[in-house]
Amino acid sequence: MIILAIETSCDETAVAIIKSGKENFTILSEAVSSQIKIHAEWGGVVPNLAAREHLKNIIPVIEYSLKKANVNPKEIDLIATTKGPGLIPALLIGNSVSKTLAWIWGKPLLGINHIEGHIYSNFVDPHPSPSPKTGKGWRVAPGEGKIKFPVLCLIVSGGHTQLVLMKDHLQYKIIGQTLDDAAGEAFDKVARMLGLGYPGGPAIAAGAAKFKIQNSQPKAGRPWAEKLKVNFPRPMINSKDFNFSFSGLKTAVLYEIKKLKTINQEQKTIICHEFQQAVIDVLISKAIRAVKKFNPKTIMIAGGVSANKELRCQLKQTLKKLFPALLYREPDARYSIDNAVMIAAAANFRWQKMSIKQKNYSLNNWKIFATDANLKLT
Ligand code: KG4
Ligand code: ZN
Repeated sequence: MIILAIETSCDETAVAIIKSGKENFTILSEAVSSQIKIHAEWGGVVPNLAAREHLKNIIPVIEYSLKKANVNPKEIDLIATTKGPGLIPALLIGNSVSKTLAWIWGKPLLGINHIEGHIYSNFVDPHPSPSPKTGKGWRVAPGEGKIKFPVLCLIVSGGHTQLVLMKDHLQYKIIGQTLDDAAGEAFDKVARMLGLGYPGGPAIAAGAAKFKIQNSQPKAGRPWAEKLKVNFPRPMINSKDFNFSFSGLKTAVLYEIKKLKTINQEQKTIICHEFQQAVIDVLISKAIRAVKKFNPKTIMIAGGVSANKELRCQLKQTLKKLFPALLYREPDARYSIDNAVMIAAAANFRWQKMSIKQKNYSLNNWKIFATDANLKLT
């Protein structure tokens, strides 16, 4: 079957078309129209601007995707769309277009939870091999054989930081989450304090990487290194639960910057490194605690912050050392950040588990479909 997936929960207008079989699925086309440049001017995502850009871009992105996939609308079997959580003006554009297409094309419509999409980015196998239809593209395994349940998933995005336990496909139990800011939100806010622009995650990661290179030089070559000693807190690292908190860490960075009055490039890279390490320490420590308690067979990371190379590397190494039998999975970095392939992947799993009655019912979904900006993972 052919699935057309649409994702507009934040600042990316993303469309993907996949062809799924029983054993695997193939990405026929994928496109992301990013609004980063527009929002960067404002230092963060402006919801109404995001909606305006989605409105402008969504039809051309769908047209492009159909053409690239060499798929006629008649061949599409299912339309999947991000129902929430996300920014309501942004979601409404993708959802309205999805509903309209489902209605005029007479296709079933499936609403997908954005966080579920992030989780299923781990089931997208990025190793390229020829697609049966186009002769190029990506073969994508459903991961059944590779990912063993129970699965523990660490979701770290701009809006969410959660530890989710999955007994099986599509079964979620949130065992912990942030009590205030999400990890990505903290990255973005700290980057803004340092004048590093939006999105903050990649900017902080670049600053921290620069620090690492400079720090590996002999001391004489880096006289500034001794000038700034910071020791940021690791909030809730010792709490017995699986919750997180990042707002105190963000405030600690703010105080440090205020103390400095003026801040040079080198000091910025030190702060980037120290802040990033504080976040990584907390995430890894909570993940270890959760593995000890719930004994999963697989651990996965997902969401925009999971694109962070240092987090990936340290998490992977620590887990390998402590739990050598535990399977570790991370999405390809392009599927860590928002995209529509992950929505298509989640829709594929959902569709496979649905009864004939449910499948028939989803033909009428366009009539009753409701966007939910605060949709919870259930
Ligand atoms: O999942 P995502 O694309 O959108 C949401 O669902 O929120 O995540 C976006 C977040 C932003 O806060 C961004 O700064 C962060 O992911 N991010 C990163 C990196 N790349 C993106 N954070 C840390 N390191 C990165 N390399
Ligand atoms: Zn996301």
